Amino acid sequence: MWELDPRRLFQRLRYQQVASIDEVTGSPGVGQKAVQRKGRLYTLTHLSISFFCLIGSISFFFNKYYHQVSDDKCVRRFSAPSPALEAVELEWMTFNDVFQPDEYSGYPSATSEKAWAALWDFGAFTVPLDSLAGLNKSSMTGDFRLVGSGPDAGVGGLLEGAHQIHCLNLVRQFIYRDHWDYSQLPSFSGGDKTRRHHVDHCIETLRMVFACQSDVTPYYLATSQRGTVESRGLPHKCRKYPMLVDWVNAHSVFDTVE
Ligand SMILES: *[C@@H]1O[C@H](CO)[C@@H](O)[C@H](O)[C@H]1NC(C)=O
Repeated sequence: MWELDPRRLFQRLRYQQVASIDEVTGSPGVGQKAVQRKGRLYTLTHLSISFFCLIGSISFFFNKYYHQVSDDKCVRRFSAPSPALEAVELEWMTFNDVFQPDEYSGYPSATSEKAWAALWDFGAFTVPLDSLAGLNKSSMTGDFRLVGSGPDAGVGGLLEGAHQIHCLNLVRQFIYRDHWDYSQLPSFSGGDKTRRHHVDHCIETLRMVFACQSDVTPYYLATSQRGTVESRGLPHKCRKYPMLVDWVNAHSVFDTVE
């Protein structure tokens, strides 16, 4: 509707000037006045369009070069699709370099077993069917556990992070197997060979997890006053694990056995 032809714009502007001279010299006709008004409207419109284009270009430039991409967008870009992504929040965290025994370490006790279980032993959540393609599963080949129906239909899924902690816990329990009775645990069922196989599988899993995630945080070495070389941790960008635990517990659709 509005043509942005600069030649026409200037023609109109020139015409408008002629009309205003007419006005000073005497009596412009009714038709001339209408043309004058139209010309003014035309100029105003073009100026407004130019103004908005200028503002648009400037904001586009700032958006492109100065816009901070949100953590949420980055997390989604660097993760497999998962409903749990909505619970991911990041924080800077420096790991404790000076080892202080805590409830997770040392000889097993009821307290340590409970603390470890709270890190991984929770139910499955619903993975929506339409996210399966993004997980390289285009068809339901019958090996999924279906949950829900209609628009809420999906398949049951566990949090991989929790599965990995389960593996670390199993390695810990295997180390301390002579100090605590783990015989009732499903992971300890089967013979000695089965148990070792499970532990080996867990070590393999953890090796791949560390390689896959390859934390690039520099781990620098410092020489102490006594001349010994000590390592010093630097802040890591971490996901807030307790928030994920809360999310999984709030979205649990069925309990699982290890
Ligand atoms: C995706 O699935 C196909 C078919 O099962 C498989 O061949 C391929 O290796 C998978 N891709 C990845 C990245 O795992």
